[in-house]
Amino acid sequence: MSTRTSETMKAIQVYTEGDPEVLVYEDVPRPTAGPGEVLIRVYAAGVNPADWRARAGFPDVPEKFRHAIPPIPRPSIPGFDVSGIVEAVGPGVTEFREGDAVYGMVRFPHGGKSYAEYTRAPVTDLARKPVTLDHLQAAAVPMAALTAWQMLYLDLEASQTVLINGAAGGVGHFAVQLAKLKGARVIGVASGRHAAFLRELGVDQFIDYTVTPIEQVIHDIDVVFDTVGGENNRLLSILKRGGRFVPINIGNYSTEHAALAGITIGTSHHQALQSSSVQLAEIGKLIDTGQVHVVIDTVVPLAEARKAHERGEAGHIHGKIVLRVVEEGRCSRPPAYPLA
Ligand SMILES: NC(=O)c1ccc[n+]([C@@H]2O[C@H](COP(=O)([O-])OP(=O)(O)OC[C@H]3O[C@@H](n4cnc5c(N)ncnc54)[C@H](OP(=O)(O)O)[C@@H]3O)[C@@H](O)[C@H]2O)c1
Repeated sequence: MSTRTSETMKAIQVYTEGDPEVLVYEDVPRPTAGPGEVLIRVYAAGVNPADWRARAGFPDVPEKFRHAIPPIPRPSIPGFDVSGIVEAVGPGVTEFREGDAVYGMVRFPHGGKSYAEYTRAPVTDLARKPVTLDHLQAAAVPMAALTAWQMLYLDLEASQTVLINGAAGGVGHFAVQLAKLKGARVIGVASGRHAAFLRELGVDQFIDYTVTPIEQVIHDIDVVFDTVGGENNRLLSILKRGGRFVPINIGNYSTEHAALAGITIGTSHHQALQSSSVQLAEIGKLIDTGQVHVVIDTVVPLAEARKAHERGEAGHIHGKIVLRVVEEGRCSRPPAYPLA
């Protein structure tokens, strides 16, 4: 029986780490906006690997790195990416008013709580929603686009060649478009099913990693942007002396080898991903002027968040997964994954 009142809302909660079944749809207290925050009526919540990895207790993170994982209180509401309408403003807020459409990545990495009908967010984590996007599309943008912006776009130069590993995924598809906007030459690596999609996004060269080992065909490039991780030491060997290797996932590469080869690891701008209302506004402008496109892999209703995580963990993502919280508008692209 529902215990819903005007002070409660529907949300997904996680009581214990585990498989997607631990995502429970239930009534929880509705939050209120504190100082410097707004209360958002959530229309859509973006789904990221960070969400399903946190739900599962980050089983892929080796022991030596586990101290860096922020503690997750239980029960907790997952989700960082949100698009919605400002329902109320907290004390001291002048940036937004009730009724404004906003999008953002909320409280990363400490818990944004966007898998819910309402969420509260610091205004510094938000920007106005791009007007050309519906909420489903806007919720797909923040974490993936901010990662591509902070970890690749800011350092990249027009004269450079960049290899983007994992080019068809959430981060990768923004990275490809932003690198092309910078004027760089872009090599996209993905499984063959994404070849046409990535050529449409503008890659100059496509490599199907299931057929061709990257290091057999690529040498002496300027930048490797690796969203895949794992055994990525071999990616150092395709960089020229003075090149840059940007891993955003956990991988095995030798910092000693990189130093000997004169390779810089990481970015010069951001040590770790952070939200930025300024960058979200700039990304929004590129979207509204048709220079960056958002691609949706799958849309799932909030109540069925479990299916979104199952889709994510099945792999081979083509763009982004989004939770629909309020029915409105339609996606520009039909889901690539059947919603049972
Ligand atoms: N450090 C940070 O702050 C930060 C921020 C955002 C994301 N991340 C991490 O970055 C990773 C990627 O995020 P995402 O949102 O882009 O994930 P995603 O949407 O799941 O996309 C991953 C993509 O990688 C491709 N892929 C898988 N194995 C591959 C391989 N061996 N070679 C090339 N491509 C491969 C997949 O499709 P195909 O196999 O079909 O090509 C898929 O398109 C996640 O682990 C996430 O946690 C880190």
